[in-house]
Amino acid sequence: MEKYKNYSIKNVGEEVSLNGWVSRVRNLGGLVFIDLRNRMGIMQVVVRPENEFYDLASSLKSEYVIHVEGTIVERESKNPNMATGEIEVNVKRLELINTSKEIPFTISDDTTALEDTRLKYRFLDLRRESLKNNFVIRNKITYAVRQFFNELDFLEVETPVLCKSTPEGARDYLVPSRVNKGKFYALPQSPQIYKQLLMISGFERYFQIAKCFRDEDLRADRQPEFTQIDVEMSFVDEDAVMDIGERMMARIFKDVKGIDIKLPLMRMKYTEAMDRYGSDKPDLRFGMEIKDISEVFKNTEFSVFKTVLEENGIINAIVAKNAADKYSRKDLDKLTDFVKTYRAQGLAYLKYQEEVSGSIFKVMSEKEVEDLKEQLGIENNDLVLIISGKREIVKTALGALRCKLGRELGLIDPNDYKLLWVVDFPSFEWSEEENRYMACHHPFTAPKDEDVDKLLTDKANCYSKAYDIVINGYEAGGGSIRIHDEKVQETMFKALELTEEDIQNKFGFFVDALKYGCPPHGGFACGLDRITMLLAGTDNIRDVIAFPKTASATDLMCECPSDVDEKQLVEVGLKLR
Ligand code: AMO
Repeated sequence: MEKYKNYSIKNVGEEVSLNGWVSRVRNLGGLVFIDLRNRMGIMQVVVRPENEFYDLASSLKSEYVIHVEGTIVERESKNPNMATGEIEVNVKRLELINTSKEIPFTISDDTTALEDTRLKYRFLDLRRESLKNNFVIRNKITYAVRQFFNELDFLEVETPVLCKSTPEGARDYLVPSRVNKGKFYALPQSPQIYKQLLMISGFERYFQIAKCFRDEDLRADRQPEFTQIDVEMSFVDEDAVMDIGERMMARIFKDVKGIDIKLPLMRMKYTEAMDRYGSDKPDLRFGMEIKDISEVFKNTEFSVFKTVLEENGIINAIVAKNAADKYSRKDLDKLTDFVKTYRAQGLAYLKYQEEVSGSIFKVMSEKEVEDLKEQLGIENNDLVLIISGKREIVKTALGALRCKLGRELGLIDPNDYKLLWVVDFPSFEWSEEENRYMACHHPFTAPKDEDVDKLLTDKANCYSKAYDIVINGYEAGGGSIRIHDEKVQETMFKALELTEEDIQNKFGFFVDALKYGCPPHGGFACGLDRITMLLAGTDNIRDVIAFPKTASATDLMCECPSDVDEKQLVEVGLKLR
C-alpha cells in the first residue's frame, strides 16, 4: 500500500492514485468537483465534461467509495482554509468501488446530529476529521509510551482479563464460569495485584497498556471500560516512581504536541490542595484560591456564621476579580443552587463596588467589611463568595464553584497545561454509604513510616505514600509505594474491617506471596483516555474511545448489554431473577 501522504503545492505535476470516500460532489459550470476524503484529509478532484468518466463522476453521491488516478495541478481559485487548498487532482481514471446508503447525518465537524445518533452510527461518526484526529493523537501517545519504557528496560507484560475480584472501590464486572458452575471471574478494575506479583517474580520494571473495567457511576471523564498506562518498579521509593512518571508524561507532551514540560513537577500535599483549591486535583491554570475568613467573623452577631464557628466549622471565601457587575441576583441564585449540590447550606456574597452590597452586608459591621476587604486584597468591582459550615463541605463546594467561575469568566487558557503531583494522601476515607473507613487509594498502599502504628488506632490521621499526577484539574494518574511486609498488609486489611475469613478468601494467595521474598516496590497508573482527552482538547471521554459506552453504560451501536439465549444461561448455571 502506498504510504499515506500529505500532498501540497510541492507535489504539482505528480501522478497520484487515491482511494477514498466522496465527501461532497458539486457541478459548477459543467465541471464536476469531488471532495475525496481519506485518512489524510480531503483532496479536490476535478472531472471535465470531455472526460470519459464525466457521467460516472456526475452520478456519484456522498460516501460512495471511489478510486481516482490523475495528476496534481495547481488550483485556479485557492482555498486557504484547506490543507490541500492550493491543489487539485485532474482525473485520468475514475472507478466506483462501492455505493452507500443515504447517511443518517452529515459527516462534518460542525454536524448538529445528536450524540446518541452519532453513537448508533459510530462507524460513520469516526469518519469525521476531528474525531479521527483524536485517534491519531492516541496512537502517538501509546507509541511514545512504548518507546520511553523500552529505552529504560521496562518489560511489557500482559496480565489476565479473567481474574479474581480485587475490590478497589468500584463494583466488579462479573463473568460466570461454564466449567465451574456457580463460580465467577471478575474483569480487572486494574492489574494491581498482578503487577505486584510480577515484582515478587523479580521482573523489577513492568509496564502495560491495560484495559480496566469498573462498574461505577459514569461522568464526562469516566467510562466503564477504559485504558491505563500501568507501571510497577522494585527497589524504589516515592521519588524514584514519581521521577519515572513525570518523565513519561513529559515525553508524551514533547512527542505528541512538541510541548516542553519543565521538570521536576511541582508537588503539593493533599491537605494543602484541599485547603487552597478545595480539590485533590486542582486546576492551576488560574488563581482564585480559597481563603479562610473565619477570623474576620470571630465576633459576628450573624447567627448562621456564629453557630458554624461555635461548632468548629469554617467560613471560607473566593474572590471573583472584577466580576461583581457580571453576576445578577438571579445568577447568584443559580450559583447558590450549584453549591447546594455539593451539600453547602447556602452561598453568601458581597459586591465591592462604589458602594458595598450583598446578601450578608446588612449583618456585617463596618469593621468586618473593611477587614475582609483588607484580608482579601479587594479592589473595585470584586465579587466575594462565601460558604460556611463543616470543613470538608465548605472546601469541596468552593472548589467546585471556583472551577465553574474560572470557566464562566474565561480565566482558563485552553492551550495551557499545568501539571503537578498531589502527594501524601490520607490512607483512609470515611464512607457514609458503608459506615466505615475505606482505603483512599487501595488496600496495598503503604502508610507513611511514621503512621504505620496508627493504622488501627488513629485512621483519620494516617497518611500514605500515595501520589496523583494532576493535569488541568484532571486526575491523569495515580499510584503509591506498596506494602511489602505481610504483617503490615494484614494490619491494613484489618483496619479496613475485613475479617480473617475475608482476608483468606479474597487475598489469601496474595498475602502468602508476600512471604516469599517480596522486594520493596511501587508504581502508578495513568488514564490513557484522560491524557488523550487533555491533548486532544476535549472534555468528553467518548471522543477518544473508538467504541465508547453512553452514560448509562450501553453501547448504542451494538445494542449491548443485551438479552442472551436461555441455553447460554443454562450452560453457565444461571437463572434470571
Ligand atoms: P486509579 O484507580 O487511581 O489507580 O486509576 C488510575 C488512573 O486511571 C484513570 N481512571 C479512569 N479513566 C477513565 N474511566 C474510569 N472509570 C477511570 N478510573 C480511573 C484515572 C486514574 O488516575 N491500580 C491503581 C494504580 C496504582 O496504584 O498503580 C489504580 O488503578 O486517570
